[in-house]
Amino acid sequence: MKKLDIKKLKEAYLNIFEPLGHTKSDFLRLEKIISDAIENRSEELKIRDQRPHDWYLSENMIGMTLYINLFSKNIKSLIKKIPYFQELGITFIHLMPLLKPREGNSDGGYAVEDYRDINPDLGTLEDFKNLIKKLHEQDISVAIDFVINHTAKEHEWAKKASMGDEFYQNMYMMYDTDEIPKKFNETVPEVLPDQYPGNYTYYDDFKKYVYKSFSEFQWDLNFENPYVLEEILSIFFFLANLGVDVIRLDAIPFIWKELGTTCRNLPKVHEFMHIFHLANQLVSPSVVVLGEAIVEPHEIVKYFGDDEKPECGLLYNANMMVNLWNALATRDVRTLEIDQMRFKLPHHAAWINYIRCHDDIGWGLNEDALRSFGFDPFSHKQFLINFYNGSFEGSFSKGQNYQFNKNTLDARTNGTLASLSGLEKAINENDQFGFEESLKRNDLLNALMFFAPGIPLIYSGDEVGILNDYKHANDPNKTDGRWIHRPFFPWHEKALFKDENTYQGHIFNHIKRLGKIRKNEKIMHSSIPLTVIPTGNIHVYTSIKAYGDEKIIGLFNFSENHQVLDMNEFKAFGIKGLYKDLFQNKTYDMNANHIDMYPYEYLWLKLI
Ligand code: GLC
Ligand code: GLC
Repeated sequence: MKKLDIKKLKEAYLNIFEPLGHTKSDFLRLEKIISDAIENRSEELKIRDQRPHDWYLSENMIGMTLYINLFSKNIKSLIKKIPYFQELGITFIHLMPLLKPREGNSDGGYAVEDYRDINPDLGTLEDFKNLIKKLHEQDISVAIDFVINHTAKEHEWAKKASMGDEFYQNMYMMYDTDEIPKKFNETVPEVLPDQYPGNYTYYDDFKKYVYKSFSEFQWDLNFENPYVLEEILSIFFFLANLGVDVIRLDAIPFIWKELGTTCRNLPKVHEFMHIFHLANQLVSPSVVVLGEAIVEPHEIVKYFGDDEKPECGLLYNANMMVNLWNALATRDVRTLEIDQMRFKLPHHAAWINYIRCHDDIGWGLNEDALRSFGFDPFSHKQFLINFYNGSFEGSFSKGQNYQFNKNTLDARTNGTLASLSGLEKAINENDQFGFEESLKRNDLLNALMFFAPGIPLIYSGDEVGILNDYKHANDPNKTDGRWIHRPFFPWHEKALFKDENTYQGHIFNHIKRLGKIRKNEKIMHSSIPLTVIPTGNIHVYTSIKAYGDEKIIGLFNFSENHQVLDMNEFKAFGIKGLYKDLFQNKTYDMNANHIDMYPYEYLWLKLI
């Protein structure tokens, strides 16, 4: 083992656990787990570990997220769908939770009963290993979820705990009286106020109050107990040693709790993330940790750590996602621009850029920026909620409220990309003009997602304009509103994917082209940052990437009107001469006085 790394790990471990009464000899248990995991790593994976450590920053990375059961029923038939991914240019797949969940409602698999087994509805461990092998053969890397904040209440540890075993009760946060739980409730916000209010549940059969952040059946683990970290890390290595390339750590901001706080993003969480980084370096250095932290922008970015103390390699760019939808509704790109320039990432870091995912859209915008434009953040959020649920006059959207709180009027939003950006409404109303505009909006969002530094991540189905599924509520395990945007993949429409005259084919082919163009340009490597050009036109997101002599300018018109851009600002960035648009092959003379843009047009202009 690398001595220096183990020393660093020990320091990080003792930082957390020494004040809690644990010692160097406790660390020995972790050291043993690590050396066993190194021993168990196959020769094949050790070779894979030798690829460039920043492989995931490549311009080749194009991602897709999917639920196996919704996409192809099971793992075996997913293997048969590999040509579909290849045709689309996908090189990275995030498979939604596939470890053995509790029966019945499992929050889409985020309530795990056994981390060392596969959901039997999907297949076996052998099937899964075979899938990874087949995907790797086609240069497709694989991400899976690892839910570390909580287990299902049916997990073996939880069952033992509820039978009175004290060792296992200490793996969770359990209390004899409601004194402490009530105190937590005073400062900890609720994630699911609608269905599962509060942060604890009382169980009469074993007479304990149990802390839970999410649903009643998802019990939070107690990270103050070093045995929890040991178990979690040994499962992490088990997953890494199956051959997955990226491990998505679910809901990380929640893992550490302290009375009197919101129990989100506490400093200790960062120490744990650094521990994950160090332990991963020792065992499976080519595996990347993807952190799921859907919190305020300045809190999200902290989960990358820095060059000195790295944490996650990948994080969801939730901020960009929200800003995209904000720009589409307001036709104003200013928050998108301001936030894009806000953070400088450490060398090992890249965003996962996405337009929507399996979860809802939470309207966490940059409030200072909004105020500086004269918007009241509360009213603005109300506007967005109502715009996207379609009740705002003139809205093109057909989303739904999620976790609406009637006291605060707060809500989040559910819906597929196509339904939120106008396709569903246009189809329902037989509105040809609206239909065309909605496709332009779809293309615009995808084009910006592919242009931004980081990995573009498509939610399965959005590449063929999948619409909201209103039938989900008939399934008793799918009563949560988020299922509206998690429909079965429409294989019955397969013939349309190739026909560019259909919306399915239009979107599919557009994504294919975006991927091809992106992969062709070295300048799309995620290490090359993007700089916003302040053109003074608030409707057009304008940015440039420069690398050596190469330059590429991205222009994205978020309004349904023609826009004119004054070229003076461009000159300040040294932009002159001829540029070619990579999509339309049109040439642009940057010495001219202005650029004209069509409604919702986007340009990727490359210096020629
Ligand atoms: C994450 C998942 C979400 C799940 C929650 C609880 O945020 O993305 O779907 O409900 O964690 O595990
Ligand atoms: C919140 C949480 C996120 C979770 C989601 C569920 O946004 O931060 O982790 O997935 O709620 O809706």
